[in-house]
Amino acid sequence: MRINILGICGSPRKGNSEFLLKKALNYVSKLNSFDISTELYSFHNKEFKPCIACEYCARNAGKCIHNDDFSELKEKWLSADVILYSIPVYHMSMPGQLKCFVDRLGNSLFSTFKDIFKKEETDTLPKLLKVIGSISQGIHLFSGQEHAITDLINHALLMQCIPVTGDMWESYIGVSGWTGNNGKRSALKESFNEGVFDTCVAVKAAEKMALRAVEISVIIKSGIYQNKTYFTRQTHYLPLLEKISNELH
Ligand SMILES: Cc1cc2nc3c(=O)[nH]c(=O)nc-3n(C[C@H](O)[C@H](O)[C@H](O)COP(=O)(O)O)c2cc1C
Repeated sequence: MRINILGICGSPRKGNSEFLLKKALNYVSKLNSFDISTELYSFHNKEFKPCIACEYCARNAGKCIHNDDFSELKEKWLSADVILYSIPVYHMSMPGQLKCFVDRLGNSLFSTFKDIFKKEETDTLPKLLKVIGSISQGIHLFSGQEHAITDLINHALLMQCIPVTGDMWESYIGVSGWTGNNGKRSALKESFNEGVFDTCVAVKAAEKMALRAVEISVIIKSGIYQNKTYFTRQTHYLPLLEKISNELH
């Protein structure tokens, strides 16, 4: 079973978020049991304008009126089976650039998939069932990591996807870390090399969460495909079923 993993680094710089994300992606790219492909998308030097509620996407099959990096990331997001977000905490939540992306993604997808529902239902999404894991780190301890992860879990649920965590004890709802009051972009890399306990825990949690995300995606994709006679009759599952069929043939 092929599993496409998209790592989305929500920091505008190449730093601590990217360090943890690379650890997670490297860990699962070595799995021999599945056909894994990994890609890291960075918000570094990217532009994501805010949604202006113009409803252009509603009238144009999901295409956004802004001309920036949104459509490229939207396509990558739609092609992925597993999405791992890795973000710095900004003001107790996710960075604004990423919030702009998820706002626009939500509204754009309603129109992208409108045709499959015909006139039966509007403003609904198919069950995309991408497995979504969240990594968040900040400069301080207890300074918004859980809030940021919860925001991404809510995003996963809204997008009809499956939020996933790593293993207890080091991962309750996702992966969280802190740089020990160090503002450098290399803070986590350095503390990991020095064997700092909290950073080693965050790395282990990121690796395990990526592994569990892959496993759950395999379970979901094979389960739907095995039962395709049933799921073909369920409109909500058609895009996922079509994606899996295309990959297999
Ligand atoms: C605008 C802004 C807001 C921030 N807000 C928080 C915060 O609320 N809590 C926190 O722990 N760190 C906060 N930070 C610090 C970053 O989360 C921290 O430096 C992180 O390690 C940066 O990750 P990066 O290297 O991937 O960019 C903030 C940084 C910026 C630039």
